[in-house]
Amino acid sequence: MIKIQPENYRFLQENIRRQSGIVLDDGKDYLVEARLLPVAMEHGLKTLDDLCTKLRLLSDISLQRKVVEAMTTNETYFFREPAHFEALRAHVIPALLELRRIDQKLRFWSAAASTGQEAYSLAMLLCEMGLESWDIRIVGTDISTTVLDRAAAGVYNQVEIERGLAATLRTKYCTERSADSWEIKPILRRMTTFQLFDLRFNIRALGPFDVVFCRNVLIYFDPITKSRIIEDIRTALKPGAYLFLGGSEVALPVGPGFSRAVASEATFFKSV
Ligand SMILES: C[S@@+](CC[C@H](N)C(=O)[O-])C[C@H]1O[C@@H](n2cnc3c(N)ncnc32)[C@H](O)[C@@H]1O
Repeated sequence: MIKIQPENYRFLQENIRRQSGIVLDDGKDYLVEARLLPVAMEHGLKTLDDLCTKLRLLSDISLQRKVVEAMTTNETYFFREPAHFEALRAHVIPALLELRRIDQKLRFWSAAASTGQEAYSLAMLLCEMGLESWDIRIVGTDISTTVLDRAAAGVYNQVEIERGLAATLRTKYCTERSADSWEIKPILRRMTTFQLFDLRFNIRALGPFDVVFCRNVLIYFDPITKSRIIEDIRTALKPGAYLFLGGSEVALPVGPGFSRAVASEATFFKSV
């Protein structure tokens, strides 16, 4: 395999950071090759250097999008970090039910939704808590249209549907369409919507939310971008709302607008 020229690797680092915020460390040539060579070949290009030449021409927006999408990490599964869902069930939702008992309206945001398992896990939890009569909306957003299309379709293969999801919940909230295909039932899909959204821009336009899950995405950004996004999320929260970050992000400084809380072995943040 022909190795990418160092100046082209630097070009890709800058290009991907500008388009998505994702910081690609030095020496990740193997990762870039594994993810971008298939994109290059799909466009009739033989090497990553050819891909960079084409990207520099700025002539193909769909190629640019595919490059960014290929560099996103979309790993996710149902009820990832179960302590977060237990903290929601036992502490956060009961507190919100009291706080919002007059308008009976709750708004959730899965801020890096990937293929949708996080949003549907939230929907299942809320149904299991008997909140179908409340006005509940869960919005899932992501920078990748490929994963959002999958999230909106709500169709998972056998491996995906079994990852993190108890058999009882699977049979209650999903329909088996064929040997290797399960579909999320309408009761959950009615509560959820998915839309394209880059976390780095105009968060204030979304919301206001009662609960934000922004998990396992800030790790890909530089420190300034991480802090700015956390501060912007705060402006999209209702008073007394909650923010959950991923396990490796929870130690990030969140600023004076949040108080740190620990319950059910989960750490999360409450807007003050
Ligand atoms: C590892 S997944 C996290 C999925 C889920 N939150 C979880 O914890 O299981 C990270 C997601 O962040 C998305 N992402 C990366 N950069 C983004 C950006 N600038 N704005 C919005 N989403 C972004 C990726 O497309 C990817 O689907």
